[in-house]
Amino acid sequence: MPDINPDRLLADLQELRQIGAYKTGVHRPTFSADDIRSRHWLEAKLTEAGLDASIDGIGNVIGRCRAPGGKLILGSHLETQPHAGWLDGALGVVYGLEVARALGQGIDVAAWTDEEGHYGSFLGSRSFIGALPEAEIDRCRFREDGTPLRDALARAGLAGRSRVQIDPARYLGYLEAHIEQGATLEDAGHRIGIVTAIVGSHRFKIVFEGVQNHAGTTRMAVRKDAGVALVRLANAIYDRFPMVAGPRTVWTAGHIALDPSAPSIVPGRAEMLFQFRDTDPAVLARLDQELEALVAAANRDGPCRVTLTEPGQSVPRAMDAGFQDALERAAERHAPGLHQRLPSGAGHDAQILAERLPSGMLFVPSIGGISHHYAEDTKPEDIVQGCQVFADAAAALLAGG
Ligand code: HGY
Ligand code: MN
Ligand code: MN
Repeated sequence: MPDINPDRLLADLQELRQIGAYKTGVHRPTFSADDIRSRHWLEAKLTEAGLDASIDGIGNVIGRCRAPGGKLILGSHLETQPHAGWLDGALGVVYGLEVARALGQGIDVAAWTDEEGHYGSFLGSRSFIGALPEAEIDRCRFREDGTPLRDALARAGLAGRSRVQIDPARYLGYLEAHIEQGATLEDAGHRIGIVTAIVGSHRFKIVFEGVQNHAGTTRMAVRKDAGVALVRLANAIYDRFPMVAGPRTVWTAGHIALDPSAPSIVPGRAEMLFQFRDTDPAVLARLDQELEALVAAANRDGPCRVTLTEPGQSVPRAMDAGFQDALERAAERHAPGLHQRLPSGAGHDAQILAERLPSGMLFVPSIGGISHHYAEDTKPEDIVQGCQVFADAAAALLAGG
């Protein structure tokens, strides 16, 4: 089996960590200057590793093996959540680079643009599988300040550049390595996770419209306080969802805003970004209905108007059974009895690639289960062992195992 180079692996991860460093983490929003720098960093590393590397018209960095024969494509993402962790995405990209070097051939490597959703939903991996229309790119805006994606692409020097699309005949499949971002492995004392399925998520911007007015002279009986409407619906959701959710369903109101947001003004408008996730499409459909019923009840009771807007969703996907077996065999070789199969509560590009290729995912433990936070970390020995398991599984799959 191929030997990875642990020192080279850890050195590359630390080098990438310096691009956009923030406290012990990284701040590399999609198409920020540091994100663009990281893409060029990877392009140079892939070229140095002997791959034919380029950055395409949506910002995907793709390194293609020049040798003939069956191939796997390994990848993940380079951008990060705001002021977040140094390994979310980066681990899988650098694992791909290291496995390509260790195996010497048969491996393409990719960093997919905007897995973290700063401009849209899985833009890079959806572009690669041919599921990102130009019209959608025209519509995409940066969620922080509304910058059009087209402007960001132009600023990155990518405007008008063609987008690389998959040739399914080129690949046996797709593998992605990632930190678990939860505490399941750590709590079980396990060192490797083999992903069985990846959650789908349903996302909404819920808008509350009332009447802005003076906080002192507007009697309580006549107020149409959009902030109160938001709090009441959030309460109703958090009371009701546990009754209709599945055992691993999660739901989050990750952004709440009042307009205006001032102590002496009754807010006339409010909005809440709300999402829920599960691996079972039936549960997701049931929660859609429940949310619609709660919004209808809020509108019936008044006094504000509540609207579900900007729905977005990703589809839950099972990982290929044969790829799971190959990952498990490799894990047993290096971490006997210290591995387990588990679903992913985070979304990943593997759920997009799985629409076109057999796909598999490997997890390494997250210390304290922390992620999407600059304190995110994984023990170096787990990083190294995870990469060796990943390389063994890739080599076995390429050899027909
Ligand atoms: O939120 C997610 O599941 C992913 O980490 N962006
Ligand atoms: Mn990620
Ligand atoms: Mn993430």
